[in-house]
Amino acid sequence: MQSSLSLPTNQGHLSRTTPHCRNLTSCVRPPNPTVSFFRRPPPISAVAAAPARRPQVTHSMPPEKIEVFKSLENWATQSVLPLLKPVDHCWQPQDFLPDPSQPYDAFTEEVRALRDRTAGLPDEYFIVLVGDMITEDALPTYQTMINSLDGVRDETGASPCPWAVWTRAWTAEENRHGDLLRTYLYLSGRVDMAKIERTVQYLIGSGMDPGTENNPYLGFVYTSFQERATFISHGNTARLANQNGDPVLARICGTIASDEKRHENAYSRIVEKLLEVDPTGAMLAIADMMRKKITMPAHLMYDGTDPRLFEHFSAVAQRLGVYTADDYADILEFLIGRWRLEKLEGLTGEGRRAQEFVCGLAPRIRRLQERADERAKKMGPHGVRFSWIFNKEVAL
Ligand SMILES: [Fe+2]
Ligand SMILES: [Fe+2]
Repeated sequence: MQSSLSLPTNQGHLSRTTPHCRNLTSCVRPPNPTVSFFRRPPPISAVAAAPARRPQVTHSMPPEKIEVFKSLENWATQSVLPLLKPVDHCWQPQDFLPDPSQPYDAFTEEVRALRDRTAGLPDEYFIVLVGDMITEDALPTYQTMINSLDGVRDETGASPCPWAVWTRAWTAEENRHGDLLRTYLYLSGRVDMAKIERTVQYLIGSGMDPGTENNPYLGFVYTSFQERATFISHGNTARLANQNGDPVLARICGTIASDEKRHENAYSRIVEKLLEVDPTGAMLAIADMMRKKITMPAHLMYDGTDPRLFEHFSAVAQRLGVYTADDYADILEFLIGRWRLEKLEGLTGEGRRAQEFVCGLAPRIRRLQERADERAKKMGPHGVRFSWIFNKEVAL
């Protein structure tokens, strides 16, 4: 799960909508939902400095809806768990890396070949690949986020409930992504591993703020979107690796992308089912997440020096075409089609308004982006130094 587009989020006000109420200050919300403002503490050694985030809303799903997820357990066993791959059929990072069990000369020869292949990749490519790797490496945050969702969390750490089985095995599959990219980057010698490791530590310490409110409706909309974003992003780093002379790295990124696609399929299938059993609830959740804008999982990244690191990383990803504002709009349109939202029936008035909002959103996003692009063009190109590549400058 990762990707890199930074779109502005609604922050710092109380009047945004949630799936169950229009105004947080006046609605009745079970059970003791809490809203608090998250103020990031001043920079200390363990936490990144960042601006205040959106208000923190918790437990926004009415408790009776937990039954929806209980009633879907058999369905999840039959329709979601088969999208996991048996461990013995899974690739492992070692399949793509120099084999250290070989004699020393053969091993070092493989490392030399890896370094020769990566020599042709431009610095800005490494910015994107490092950002992707760091995002993958913050996996503990994502498992925590999913286990914050009411009705589907892993209650014991080894719960046999199919939602929990999925989350653990999904995490285990994802865990290989960061491991493989990290080792490949390490062997390439092109990046400053100490700075990268520091960024990972900051990021895991900072967490993420996706606005999913312990609400699995919101959580699964978020993960559907995110997994597709990741699929697109890794697919594009694969394409660029191929064009720049590293077919092994292309295969690595392509293999990771195909995992992301399978995960996207699982999460989208869950939302599809929610739309079937609770069309209005699911439609409102999609609209709520799109109003907030999908915040990327590594949006709090920090390397100890650049307070706008995520923004800069996102700008490079946008310039290289690895993940762009157009991709964001494309994902939305793809999900609208996949979930057949335009034809969705059985909605309440509020549900129909949410449907109208979501189905008309992609062209608006594209228009806003065009205007932002024009403003950026007027500012002209400028460079930013990245600690990840030994403080070399990259054009934004
Ligand atoms: Fe993923
Ligand atoms: Fe991943």
